[in-house]
Amino acid sequence: MITRLQGRTAVITGAASGIGLATARRLAAEGARVVCVDLDAENGAKAAAEVNGRFIQADVTDEEAVRAVYEEAVDAYGRLDIAFNNAGISPPDDDSILTTGLAAWRRVQEVNLTSVYLCCKYAIPHMRRHGKGSIINTASFVAVMGAATSQISYSASKGGVLAMSRELGVQFAREGIRVNALCPGPVNTPLLRELFAKDPERAARRLVHVPMGRFAEADEIAAAVAFLASDDASFITANTFLVDGGISGA
Ligand code: NAI
Repeated sequence: MITRLQGRTAVITGAASGIGLATARRLAAEGARVVCVDLDAENGAKAAAEVNGRFIQADVTDEEAVRAVYEEAVDAYGRLDIAFNNAGISPPDDDSILTTGLAAWRRVQEVNLTSVYLCCKYAIPHMRRHGKGSIINTASFVAVMGAATSQISYSASKGGVLAMSRELGVQFAREGIRVNALCPGPVNTPLLRELFAKDPERAARRLVHVPMGRFAEADEIAAAVAFLASDDASFITANTFLVDGGISGA
């Protein structure tokens, strides 16, 4: 295994499941010390134990909790190199502009977008201290194109993540802090399986648009995160990094 992340400290939100869990495994395999953050205490602790890292149970929408996460990571490991801001929730049922209520809309913005603002706000000062860092924010392919499946609150939240990542990437480029938006296509995780269980035809509708004719596995997304986190991506910032099986190119 490549050890390009040896000695680096990574904080991963949403590490108990799906893309976050696969990334915890991948970054640890490449030598990073990993701090797993999640609301889900049982699976979060399991993930941390598996990668020989630390688990912090936190709600990424809680400002004080997020501040404390990065403090604890730096207290434990001395520095912060990588922040993978990835925790998120799927769209509410029938997420159309005509049906989505304000409370559901606000909840999606809070978990998918405000959380990323908070994670960046409290990660960046630690990175500035040593003049280097890589932040990867999970957006989605729906941030760059219409998805043809009603998901107005979700798409808007991911568009916000994309714009914020670009803005931060430009703002901190001369301080050695790279900020990129990761835009996965559909990935075979509990989040996607739950959506398809509610609406089985959604899977077929979605698959038609994937030139590769399949959904991604979480490991394929984790490999892209590891690249963006590493010095192999040293000239890549403020970028929209699509890992989507060709959807956005079709
Ligand atoms: P998942 O449901 O498998 O994992 C999400 C994790 O985030 C869970 O462990 C959950 O407990 C945690 N989480 C949710 N709310 C939280 C909160 N308030 N505080 C702390 N932790 C919280 O989902 P998956 O598929 O791994 O998604 C990860 C990210 O990737 C999400 O931001 C999602 O929107 C995004 N994404 C997923 C795609 C897919 O097809 N699965 C496609 C494009 C983007």
